[in-house]
Amino acid sequence: MSNARPIGVLFVCLGNICRSPLAEGIFRHLVREAGLEDRFTIDSAGTSSYHIGDPPDSRTAEVARRRGVDLTSRGRQLAPADLTRFDWVLAMDGSNLEKVERMAARAHGTARVRLLRAFDPEAAGELEVPDPYYGGPEGFENVHDMVERACRGLLARIREEEGI
Ligand code: 4NP
Repeated sequence: MSNARPIGVLFVCLGNICRSPLAEGIFRHLVREAGLEDRFTIDSAGTSSYHIGDPPDSRTAEVARRRGVDLTSRGRQLAPADLTRFDWVLAMDGSNLEKVERMAARAHGTARVRLLRAFDPEAAGELEVPDPYYGGPEGFENVHDMVERACRGLLARIREEEGI
């Protein structure tokens, strides 16, 4: 156990039913595996109001479940207070990043705002997690793979910085 303030990590996409709940679930899974649960506060949010209160998309949840990751979040919209409550805010694509940065500027945000794939060692210059919502099933597998790589990279980076 540690008495240090938990490190706040928030994942952001458009709807908060596909990409960011997936990143939240995978990151929580990795943190639990590492025995660091008490060191983190982990959440996700959407820049839109389209899916407030909704469970994760069933296609996203099914791919995750097959890989041993439970998705339990409900859709909520990003709020200005998130930009001071969380230490890290990870956006899934450039459009979300822009919205988060605009809100952060107005809210005098203190969070470090980044694209999640900045932590994907295989990103090779493609820094967006594509929206799988309107695509076929292989899109969901592909998104899972890249989000998992990026979440591993993010956790490694935070552990290195925090010395944990
Ligand atoms: P997400 O995917 O941003 O990864 O949650 C989407 C889900 C729903 C919609 C768009 C993107 N939508 O337009 O309803």
